[in-house]
Amino acid sequence: MKALILVDESQDKIAIREIEKPSPKKGEVLIQVKAAALNHRDQWCRIGMYPNIQYDTVLGSDGAGVVAEIGEGVDSSWLNKGVIINPNINWGNNEAAQSADYHILGMPTNGTFAEYVVVSTDRLSEKPMHLNFTEAAALPLGGLTAFRATFTKGQVSEGQKVLISGIGGGVAQFAFQFAQSVGAEVYVTSGSKDKLAQVVEKGAVGGFNYKEDSWSKYALKTTGGFDVIIDSAGGNSMNDYLRLIKPGGRLVHYGSTTGAPKNLDMFRLFWSQASIHGSTMGSDKEFREMVKFVSENNIKPIISSVRAFDQVISAFDEMHAGDQMGKLVVTF
Ligand SMILES: NC(=O)c1ccc[n+]([C@@H]2O[C@H](COP(=O)([O-])OP(=O)(O)OC[C@H]3O[C@@H](n4cnc5c(N)ncnc54)[C@H](OP(=O)(O)O)[C@@H]3O)[C@@H](O)[C@H]2O)c1
Repeated sequence: MKALILVDESQDKIAIREIEKPSPKKGEVLIQVKAAALNHRDQWCRIGMYPNIQYDTVLGSDGAGVVAEIGEGVDSSWLNKGVIINPNINWGNNEAAQSADYHILGMPTNGTFAEYVVVSTDRLSEKPMHLNFTEAAALPLGGLTAFRATFTKGQVSEGQKVLISGIGGGVAQFAFQFAQSVGAEVYVTSGSKDKLAQVVEKGAVGGFNYKEDSWSKYALKTTGGFDVIIDSAGGNSMNDYLRLIKPGGRLVHYGSTTGAPKNLDMFRLFWSQASIHGSTMGSDKEFREMVKFVSENNIKPIISSVRAFDQVISAFDEMHAGDQMGKLVVTF
């Protein structure tokens, strides 16, 4: 079968190779992948900025497909079902944090950028009826991360003012839609005027360009501040967020794309009574709740582009350039 492998030898670091089709063991299923989607972790792996990198691994954490074969002991009703995959592996029983054995499908375990992938049955969820395979593939990792960040950590609810940073991001667009679905007043930031305009069209109350020097002063003046800020960029924007958070508000961070802040305005942090929450992925319980929430609210992932699997390397290049507005999907 064809698969996208992380390789040590080429300049690209990723290559489509022919590898052996896997077989499901006891408690596992073989999924014929119909569509798979990129996450920034795939790009971090490509550039060697991800922990525990193992070459020759099939990348990809997001996928949707059809159960093609079942292993010993698996309920035969799964056969030929359309499914999505929960990319968590070994979250464990603690809702507060993942276990020490935790990892994510697609590194170091072989992932979804392949014609077939084997996963344990407890990673399966029926494909939401309102999503086609392309849309369903875009949901799992971004949806899960956004769900925990927005609700478990951010406690976003009706009427709150919420700021989502970097709206072009695959996770951010879910946080935007989730917060909107519960009746929050949602604002966004982006480095692109075009993306801001697209999201305002989708119901964002306002948008700010983080590339403009005084964006946070302007945002404070026009909004009065935010109850919750959800961010994955980190860096010096942390001090903008501390300026923008309302007294007692919550800053939720699920990434640090731009690294650590050079300094942190400690005075604003304690004087504002703000709390800072780290958030990573989500538990298996949150995954089930997220899929239910997406179905009940008829949420469809915002998809930036869809291309054939043969063109997958160009999707990584697009992500590296930051051109996307939503998820980048490949189909088989
Ligand atoms: N902890 C976790 O479980 C978890 C899960 C998923 C992702 N992450 C991390 O979260 C980050 C985003 O992941 P993703 O898959 O959504 O990536 P992505 O689709 O590549 O999105 C990245 C987005 O970051 C935004 N950005 C860049 N510089 C920014 C800045 N200075 N201020 C605000 N936003 C900025 C850009 O938004 P615009 O294009 O709108 O400018 C860009 O679209 C990555 O660092 C990833 O590793 C962590």
